[in-house]
Amino acid sequence: MNILLTGGAGYIGSHTAVELLKEGHSVTIIDNLSNSSFKVVERIEKLTNKRVSFYKEDLLYTTRLKDVLDEHKIEAVIHFAGLKAVGESVSEPLTYYKINILSTINLCESMIASGVRDLVFSSSATVYGEPIRMPIDEETPVIDATNPYAQSKAMIEKILQDLSTAQPEFNVALLRYFNPGGAHVSGDIGEDPTGIPNNLLPFISQVAVGMRDKLVVFGDDYPTPDGTCIRDYIHVVDLAKGHIAAIEKLKEKPGLVAYNLGTGTGSSVLDIIRAFESANSLTIPFVIGARRPGDIPVSYTNPALAKAELNWQTKKSIEDICRDAWNWQKRNPKGYSEP
Ligand code: NAD
Ligand code: WQD
Repeated sequence: MNILLTGGAGYIGSHTAVELLKEGHSVTIIDNLSNSSFKVVERIEKLTNKRVSFYKEDLLYTTRLKDVLDEHKIEAVIHFAGLKAVGESVSEPLTYYKINILSTINLCESMIASGVRDLVFSSSATVYGEPIRMPIDEETPVIDATNPYAQSKAMIEKILQDLSTAQPEFNVALLRYFNPGGAHVSGDIGEDPTGIPNNLLPFISQVAVGMRDKLVVFGDDYPTPDGTCIRDYIHVVDLAKGHIAAIEKLKEKPGLVAYNLGTGTGSSVLDIIRAFESANSLTIPFVIGARRPGDIPVSYTNPALAKAELNWQTKKSIEDICRDAWNWQKRNPKGYSEP
């Protein structure tokens, strides 16, 4: 299939590009490189020995979308592009609503104009806000998004639902990711956050490589077995494969459907520190700090729907995540900014 990846030079998009190319699909990427580098495209090509068609365009302003869809005879789009930093979204809500929502609308208009009907959208478990039950399944209400980033994802989901109602031939898979981590086993592509990482795994990797002194664990007085928050950490390569399964499913089961992509197992912050230490035979200095505002104590999925309908489930463990994250970090201590 000919597949367009918006934001395909980013962390999850680049891993998905590699898996798609390995499966024999053709990949076109549109990315403005606002949070990535052209080196990613070169590394995808090197890893797979396949060519990628790349367009440096901003989805918000580009006038070339329809031309790209037509020229490459695109059959499905995976829409990763967007802004994703929760804290930044609180201080810059208009930027988040503008970029995330308007670029999705631009993309959908061009898809309709070009007759492309299948869209996979990068949503997030954050749309469940403070979930009313655990584990979280797809029937769990999407309410109470707690910050503008989460709200932008919930709003886009609603827009896509309305579009699929109005135009039933427009098929959408909403993929609600839990906590992605790890890297391609080669260590050639991985997560390269700008500035101080917000997320746990890249922060731990930067402590391990000596860029940061220590990890601050945000609270150990939560109602969990060891007092630290519990999350569902999913290996980015497992997550990438979930996108391929979703694209295949849209061909068989049209309409709009939401899938949670996670492992179904929760791990605490201390579990992750221990897994990182044992997988990589090193020590992660840490201190216990205050709770981070907005954190929920526990979040993990019930992965049954994705298993039943997509015939997809995760294969990799938190040790695999920690080993591959460290392999990427030690081979690329400054991410993509050095050769
Ligand atoms: P990322 O920042 O690494 O990738 C996003 C890519 O989109 C970047 O390469 C960036 O340059 C590009 N981009 C941003 N705005 C653009 C624009 N206006 N036009 C063109 N390109 C643009 O992020 P990621 O971690 O790979 O996440 C991909 C998607 O998954 C995002 O939509 C994110 O919200 C969602 N998501 C991520 C996580 C996570 O923890 N990483 C969890 C849940 C959902
Ligand atoms: C995980 C756990 C922290 C950093 C966020 C977004 C969510 C989604 C994924 C995009 C929490 C603890 C972290 C640190 C710590 N992104 N922690 N010290 O908060 O589950 O989700 O990323 O959609 O929208 O909110 O992930 O990696 O930030 O935190 O103790 O320095 O690690 O408190 O318990 P989170 P995270």
